[in-house]
Amino acid sequence: MAVKILPHTLMVQRQLLQYLADGQVVSGSYLAEQLGISRAAIAKHIDLLQALGLDIYAIRAKGYQLAQPITLLDAAQIRRQQAPAMAEIWLQHITDSTNTQLLKRLQDGQPLSKGQVIVAEAQTAGRGRRGNTWVSPYGSNLYFSLYWPLSQGIQAAMGLSLVIGVAVAELLEHQFGVEVALKWPNDIYIQGQKLGGILVELAGQSHAQCDVVIGLGLNIALPERLTTDIQQAVTSLQHHVEAPIDRNQLIPALQLAMVQALTAFELQGFRGYMTAFNQRDMYRDQAVSIKGGQALSGICRGVDATGCLVLEVDGQRQSIFAGEVSLRPKESS
Ligand code: BTN
Repeated sequence: MAVKILPHTLMVQRQLLQYLADGQVVSGSYLAEQLGISRAAIAKHIDLLQALGLDIYAIRAKGYQLAQPITLLDAAQIRRQQAPAMAEIWLQHITDSTNTQLLKRLQDGQPLSKGQVIVAEAQTAGRGRRGNTWVSPYGSNLYFSLYWPLSQGIQAAMGLSLVIGVAVAELLEHQFGVEVALKWPNDIYIQGQKLGGILVELAGQSHAQCDVVIGLGLNIALPERLTTDIQQAVTSLQHHVEAPIDRNQLIPALQLAMVQALTAFELQGFRGYMTAFNQRDMYRDQAVSIKGGQALSGICRGVDATGCLVLEVDGQRQSIFAGEVSLRPKESS
């Protein structure tokens, strides 16, 4: 999405969406009058929002309507629901990538508080692992990045992303009654379809303390038409939950869950999370292939106390540090 957006445009779009948020049809002339701009300008803003992935229709001679009602992110509501002593949560309307935003601040030497978060309504350059694009349409998902100084140094980063996976899974299970599976090292699944992913990026030194940015992308209500842009089966949390999901409530809950998990990880390491991860391991005891690191095939035996994947190859267990796991197709007899 190569869309250049000026600050004034952001304000107008946000106001425009406040009129459309409940999913009713609103006429172009009413919108123009309320916002003090021309109908042609309204049409341009609608085009921009569509380009940002929002499902919004122009209905001839009637006006505009969202495909589904949305609750916009609201900084005041998020703040009200934060647990005591939590660092600030910054809300950006549209950004390149919430991870990039935190990394930039670290590079510029801006002081960040432990557990500080940036969330956005849309990302124009959302990043996934292995250089993939993370599809980040407006208003429908969660784009969340948290800053954490990692006192154990860079070697702890692997366990850390698994701990975050467990924390997110436990929160979603508890709040929404869904069954969440985890795919080593960073993927979150429901019923075999990808719900979200975690991207841990490092800034700073490699031995002593280093700074990490933990990015979480979670599909809440990904528009159907965008799922074709994604190379694998994906799902949205709202498909599995009856009541409307309020991102303004979920965001502070995620911050708290992550900070608690990271604090425990800092004190006890990964060992305490091993069982929780293995109970949710998507490929436990299944025949898998590893690519991207050492190319290997074997039986997945979960993770060990350091967070490495344990692969059984010809009866021998090996620890895998990096790579992508996929199910090995059954050999035809
Ligand atoms: C994956 O490939 O599965 C990881 C996806 C991580 C996406 C999130 S969205 C918030 C943060 N900002 C980014 O640009 N990426 C992460």
